[in-house]
Amino acid sequence: MLTIACCLLVSLISAQGGRALRMKNFEVPLHVPRGESTTLRCEFDLQGERLYSVKWYKGGREFFRYVPNERPMKQDYKVTGVNVDMEASTGQVVVLQTATLATSGRYKCEVLAEAPAFNTLVEHAILTVVDIPQEKPVVRGAQERYHPGDVVRINCTSAPSKPAATLTWYINGEVVDDKYLLHYPPYMQVDGLEQSTLGLHFRATHAHFPQNVMSLRCTASIGIFYNKTEEASLETHRPALSLESREHFYGSRGTTSTSSPLSLTVGLLLCVLNALR
Ligand SMILES: *[C@@H]1O[C@H](CO)[C@@H](O)[C@H](O)[C@H]1NC(C)=O
Ligand SMILES: *[C@@H]1O[C@H](CO)[C@@H](O)[C@H](O)[C@H]1NC(C)=O
Repeated sequence: MLTIACCLLVSLISAQGGRALRMKNFEVPLHVPRGESTTLRCEFDLQGERLYSVKWYKGGREFFRYVPNERPMKQDYKVTGVNVDMEASTGQVVVLQTATLATSGRYKCEVLAEAPAFNTLVEHAILTVVDIPQEKPVVRGAQERYHPGDVVRINCTSAPSKPAATLTWYINGEVVDDKYLLHYPPYMQVDGLEQSTLGLHFRATHAHFPQNVMSLRCTASIGIFYNKTEEASLETHRPALSLESREHFYGSRGTTSTSSPLSLTVGLLLCVLNALR
């Protein structure tokens, strides 16, 4: 489910004259979930030339080579974060086992034809290992009730992830203006995962309570993978004859009554929208 491959289909003609090597399919996944294995493809057409070697590099360091005229034909070299499955790897495909955060980097495939032309074909792409949190973001610092005139000062904090999640605050369904936001640097954990915090700071006015309800919502997303929402919904209740105020901690908004603007309660409505594709 999480193996999302961004296929880079590249057709490259070697710049040198004569016969030219051609890339049929170069494929390095844009994102690889931590712990999964991944396949890199460098499928070329020799156009009648003979292959001398295929070499793979990560960040400029060679980690795999295929040379049909040598024995063994396949060789791997130690590069941090790269764990080649030698059985499964060939001249056109390299399989990496158990991605770690250190597997992220720039991968290059270099195809070299035999003498006399020594035509070469080079293609590269960036691979990023992602670690997607299973937990929803958390809202902290909320009071149980707010009145128009009160200052709202709350934080939304994502679960640790790599890369860091992007947080968005919404008031009554609208993205919050940047001047009400407090941007904090992501907190980097020892395991390399990052935790994002986005503060929301504003003075509530009557305009923030259409139909006597103010709804505050925070979403966390990482590219297309992770889309979870925490929603804080503030409700007003009109105590008909008593001054008692009622609190509700469930998810239906605007449930109660035609209300007085005096008594406000806060319900925390958790709404997990999980769009893992
Ligand atoms: C929000 O988070 C920041 C950074 O961790 C912290 O300094 C601040 O006190 C928090 N504010 C609230 C209202 O929790
Ligand atoms: C996250 O989910 C919401 C609600 O389903 C949707 O409107 C939004 O476009 C999604 N965002 C991403 C990045 O998928």
